[in-house]
Amino acid sequence: MAGTMRDDILKVIISEEEIRERITLLGKQIAEDYAGKNPMFVGVLKGCYVFMSDLVRCTDIPCTMDFVVASSYGDGTSTSGEVKILKDISQNIEGRHVILVDDIFDTGVTLNYLTQYFMPRKPASIRIAALLDKPARRTVDLAADYVGFNVPDEFVVGYGLDYAEAYRNLPYIGVLKPEVYSK
Ligand code: IMP
Ligand code: MG
Repeated sequence: MAGTMRDDILKVIISEEEIRERITLLGKQIAEDYAGKNPMFVGVLKGCYVFMSDLVRCTDIPCTMDFVVASSYGDGTSTSGEVKILKDISQNIEGRHVILVDDIFDTGVTLNYLTQYFMPRKPASIRIAALLDKPARRTVDLAADYVGFNVPDEFVVGYGLDYAEAYRNLPYIGVLKPEVYSK
């Protein structure tokens, strides 16, 4: 029988249980901060999808959701520095409180670009929610407003984060064995 994904993982750095507890708190915080504001969650696909589906279910207030498909990475582990919008949102954000949701705030280039991209549409506010933050890698002058966990400068996978499109379905955050990259 072929191996499981777990066989490719060197170590688990954030467990399912830790993620669940943290997202529950983030959702409560957002529900408090946005009470009566009908925020719009805008997920950055594909990485956002696991985190966002948990986050919105922990945020017990009326809200809407939309998605943008953005790409800044090739199949490797370092950024190309260039952001492409492959699919835009379909709702009007004028006057709306937007919460951009992504898997990780790494260099910050993607979310910085999206913030600038949406600003001319005159949203009432734009904030950023990211499951992970890698502050050591930041190249832009922007901070995430809601962060699940800070992680060290290591390439991580799972919970929506991929390596060459694989491992997004791991239910925890882990680091790959070095030999996986040379396959
Ligand atoms: P940025 O550098 O902040 O623009 O990050 C852009 C995207 O790079 C993220 O949304 C992720 O899809 C990807 N990325 C950054 N760091 C990692 C990582 O450690 N593992 C997997 N994907 C990553
Ligand atoms: Mg990615």
